[in-house]
Amino acid sequence: MKYDFTTKLNRAGSGSLKWDAMYQINPQVMPDVVPLSVADMEFKMPPELTEGLKQHLDTAVLGYTGPTPAFTDAVQHWMLKRHNWHIKPEWVIPIAGVVPAIFHAVRAFTEPGDGVIVLTPVYYPFFRAVQSQGRNAARCPLHEDNGQYTIDFGTLARLAADPHNKALLFCSPHNPVGRVWKKEELQKIQEIVLEHNLYLFSDEIHFDIIMPGTEHTVFQSLSDELAERTITFTAPTKTFNIAGLGISNIIIKNEKMRTRFVEEQDKGSGTLFTALSYKACEICYTQCSAWLDEFLSVIDSNQRLVQRFFQTRHPEIKAPLIQGTYLQWLDFRALGMEYKALEQFMTHTAQVFLDEGYIFGEEGRGFERINLAAPASVLTETLERLSNSLTKLKH
Ligand SMILES: Cc1ncc(COP(=O)(O)O)c(C=O)c1O
Repeated sequence: MKYDFTTKLNRAGSGSLKWDAMYQINPQVMPDVVPLSVADMEFKMPPELTEGLKQHLDTAVLGYTGPTPAFTDAVQHWMLKRHNWHIKPEWVIPIAGVVPAIFHAVRAFTEPGDGVIVLTPVYYPFFRAVQSQGRNAARCPLHEDNGQYTIDFGTLARLAADPHNKALLFCSPHNPVGRVWKKEELQKIQEIVLEHNLYLFSDEIHFDIIMPGTEHTVFQSLSDELAERTITFTAPTKTFNIAGLGISNIIIKNEKMRTRFVEEQDKGSGTLFTALSYKACEICYTQCSAWLDEFLSVIDSNQRLVQRFFQTRHPEIKAPLIQGTYLQWLDFRALGMEYKALEQFMTHTAQVFLDEGYIFGEEGRGFERINLAAPASVLTETLERLSNSLTKLKH
């Protein structure tokens, strides 16, 4: 291994939202406990990024800054090289985050009272982006069978046929269940979207984090017709652990949609002036592929470690392998605990801080989402603490 994916970090007091939340939930937490909830990594930055930013700072002037040609080239090249996706520079709208961009999209392309279809359980800010802006979340629950999640196309088609529903807010790969959607599945959704003239908001922020043997298809690349009604949300932030730099690239092919989106963005404070973010994205997309490849093999090994642990020590808890994201979806329903009691057990008895399944929608009750982007030793310590408490629970 060329890169360091083993050093245990201590982010207490650094302002990390994940660590601060742990101390808030349980101020008595034991020393050395590492939270495995919010989706950023317990790893150092790629060294090429650290070095590149240092060098840049030797000469940089950090005034109001827009995207440079080198930045736009890097984004265009990444989409082509990593995703076989041809985009034009003018399609790219840099903005401070995918979540604010989803808020803008919902405002720009739907009216208060309209419905936006979401496949649940799903990344919880999707509900906020829809409901807090006076739109309705039209829920299309995923079908779960022994840990395998699929789309209920009948329900999706029925919701799409309802004229109140104007858009599909899609998560690909899907957080929290870790599915990478197959091309055939995307094709079926495409048919439904086109038949009912829905807008497609495709959040592909996890698109670089794909497990070996699995392939991600950029949804809008299926056809020109689909691309004309799609917004694809991308970012280097999940991939390279730079969420704190707030940089995402929203890709909109259709010029009219782009103009409308930007008008909506201008009403808020969406413009991105952060000089370091553009540079960081450029460095990641041009110099950090080798780091990413190694990271992906670490995540795959970590998910197998978690699965093996439960299979051998607590087989009633299911930890199916994921296809994408670095978030594994664990099924604790066999414990028969009410979901709030499960949360209390995890955070206070076991002192294990994961994301509670219920925050992703009611279908997530009884589940926990573990963040695999941490040294294997940290995962093992966490699982051992959990195992001790589970064993006591059974006696
Ligand atoms: C599906 C999905 N979209 C968006 C985000 C966050 O995006 P941003 O930090 O760019 O607002 C996350 C973070 O976990 C996510 O999982």
